[in-house]
Amino acid sequence: MKRVKIKTLLACNAPLEEVTIKGWVRTKRETKEFSFIEVNDGSCLSSIQVIVDAGTPGAHYLPQISTGAAVSVTGALVASPGQGQAVEIRSHDLTLVGSSHETYPLQKKRHGDEFLRTIAHLRPRTNKYGAIMRIRSKASHLIHHFFEDRGFFLIHTPVITGSDCEGAGEMFRLTTVKGTTPASEDFFGQETNLTVSGQLSAEMMALALGDVYTFGPTFRAENSHTSRHAAEFWMLEPEMAFCDLVGNMDITEALVKYVVRGVLEACPEEISLFANFVDKTLMKTLITLRDDTYIRLPYREAIDILQKAKKSFDYPVSFGTDLQSEHERYLAEVHFKKPVFLYNYPKGIKPFYMRMNDDNETVAAMDLLVPRIGELVGGSQREEREEKLSQRMEEMGLSQEEYWWYLDSRRFGSVPHSGFGLGFERLLMLLTGITNIRDVIAFPRTPGSIDF
Ligand code: 4AD
Ligand code: MG
Repeated sequence: MKRVKIKTLLACNAPLEEVTIKGWVRTKRETKEFSFIEVNDGSCLSSIQVIVDAGTPGAHYLPQISTGAAVSVTGALVASPGQGQAVEIRSHDLTLVGSSHETYPLQKKRHGDEFLRTIAHLRPRTNKYGAIMRIRSKASHLIHHFFEDRGFFLIHTPVITGSDCEGAGEMFRLTTVKGTTPASEDFFGQETNLTVSGQLSAEMMALALGDVYTFGPTFRAENSHTSRHAAEFWMLEPEMAFCDLVGNMDITEALVKYVVRGVLEACPEEISLFANFVDKTLMKTLITLRDDTYIRLPYREAIDILQKAKKSFDYPVSFGTDLQSEHERYLAEVHFKKPVFLYNYPKGIKPFYMRMNDDNETVAAMDLLVPRIGELVGGSQREEREEKLSQRMEEMGLSQEEYWWYLDSRRFGSVPHSGFGLGFERLLMLLTGITNIRDVIAFPRTPGSIDF
């Protein structure tokens, strides 16, 4: 018989004469006449209760059916007389698909996050990690819908690069040669790295296709042992031709609102799990994110607020300071209690490609700061004027030869354009209340830690 997903079944009206489900056993309880097996198939948070009468086909498997085992059940979907579930399955036929050894580590109902990180290959079978993975999938689809609806084209930017977009030197070197062999003899005949951002390629595409976005894995070898940094993470990067900094902030705000609204609508069960067990203030945060207008504040004014704050920070601030997450969180969490765009940052703390403002001191950058996380988005209007761009590259010691193609784009029909990068894992932390980035990605890569 064709398998039905439990999510589909739970939306059906009982009774149904015969259905087949396949999944993994969460618990088993036995009385003399019946066994109660809770089966989850990953399609939704809820499991379904299966009742097996002694003597029915397959009942002989019962002694081998333990937590973690895979089973197939064919039976009738009926209204449940018991508490805790509306419907249940009366088994007509039970099959053991894969037994589970008694050492299966997920025997208890709840386990600590740290322990679960040591078994990343099994943790998606818990309620919490199953829920985060379903939200992750939904949020990805929503992002694609958002841009598709607005006429953006999805582009796939390369993972292997020959240039450093951010200029921060936090790249993973890629090589096929050993020891001191010069880069000229390496696979590409030059030094290559894993991408830290698809932006520069996205800009080239935007200057041809108008509005584009890229959404893929991104790599940074920053040795920061924080709960918000991963060595491999996913970044969404839209790039829009004929768009200035205000337009850039407008799209960012609309996107975050759209994803929050969509996840609240599509994943209510998952969100209530996080609101009940992970972060009691989650619903309030999500409603603010969805409904409130975000603050837009020049960097200079933010420095003023931080200097006047009653709170004492570990790092002092003044104009020119790269803000730490304590400052970003103070602004979004304590001072404004909602998302804040900071814009017009001092040029000294931002990369070469950002557009110089008329004051010659600040650039048209914007970061979106959110409660609990700090920086969720970093973006800017790009420097479209060839002269200003090459001047800036020179100031920053960047080779114009290496970036010849980038400068070229400013020679042939250059236009004002803008874009941003959104850290997808940080968005998921925001959506779920989860405080460690290792818990929103299936197999986290962080300094000193990679299992497989
Ligand atoms: O602010 P960033 O460095 O911006 C860029 O890379 C631009 N080129 C993007 C663009 O304009 N197209 O990174 C963008 C976002 C950050 O705001 C943060 O959310 C996330 O990427 N991010 C990380 N997320 C997890 N782990 C890390 N190590 C991250 N580094 C950045
Ligand atoms: Mg940034």
